Amino acid sequence: MTVVVLLGAPGAGKGTQAPILAEHLGVPVLASGNLLRAAVSARTALGAVADRYMSRGQLVPDETIVDIFLERLAADDATGGAILDGFPRTRGQARALDRALAARGSRVDLALHIDVPEELLVARMASRRICAANGHVYNIASNPPLVAGVCDLDGSALIQREDDSEETVRARMAQQIPPLMDVVDHYRANGVLRSVDGLRPIDEVTAGLLAATDRELGVA
Ligand code: AP5
Repeated sequence: MTVVVLLGAPGAGKGTQAPILAEHLGVPVLASGNLLRAAVSARTALGAVADRYMSRGQLVPDETIVDIFLERLAADDATGGAILDGFPRTRGQARALDRALAARGSRVDLALHIDVPEELLVARMASRRICAANGHVYNIASNPPLVAGVCDLDGSALIQREDDSEETVRARMAQQIPPLMDVVDHYRANGVLRSVDGLRPIDEVTAGLLAATDRELGVA
């Protein structure tokens, strides 16, 4: 089982890079934000709780996300491992993940940190668009679709995420970067952290992540 955690501030590029890493390693992407947004859309009890926090740019409480995410990680399609996008987000989540993996004789093999200065992220999020059907990620400035407003991959309409308003983005930065740094420290202390400069163009960030993955995991 190969478990790779993808870390980064809101807008650092996790959702852009996770599918590429997943294809490279032949494992699925498990994205906590997508899981929560699906619950909000489906109007489940989890979605109702999550929406209260997400709409204010706050992390949902550990007790709301941890069991659900670890249950997802235990599903059949992740027996060979997974790329974790957006989880863990707090030291408590990181410890819960370590315990769950240890119980399966496994561990986090690699934590990849996409490092981007906070002040550049607000502008990036303002020009982000995602597709309505599957959440494929675009940027009207740095990564536009072939046809304006239409997803290249599934033809659905491109929309702005509700939490991408400038006010919510600033709240996300203020509230989520300090716990992210705790998680970065956790993996640094475990000796599995590798950082990549997320200021580079998308394809260069991809190259850096794949090189670190191959080097650290010994992928041929
Ligand atoms: P989530 O969906 O995980 O959002 P996030 O972490 O804030 O990350 P984003 O999806 O906003 O950004 P990203 O890093 O994926 O960047 P992207 O690739 O899109 O979480 C949403 C909410 O759910 C949270 O706020 C929280 O409330 C809750 N939540 C989720 N997980 C939780 C957890 N574990 N615990 C508690 N609460 C949780 O890229 C951004 C833009 O930049 C795109 O337009 C892209 O095209 C562009 N771009 C990407 N790379 C580059 C580049 N190198 N150069 C130029 N542009 C680039």
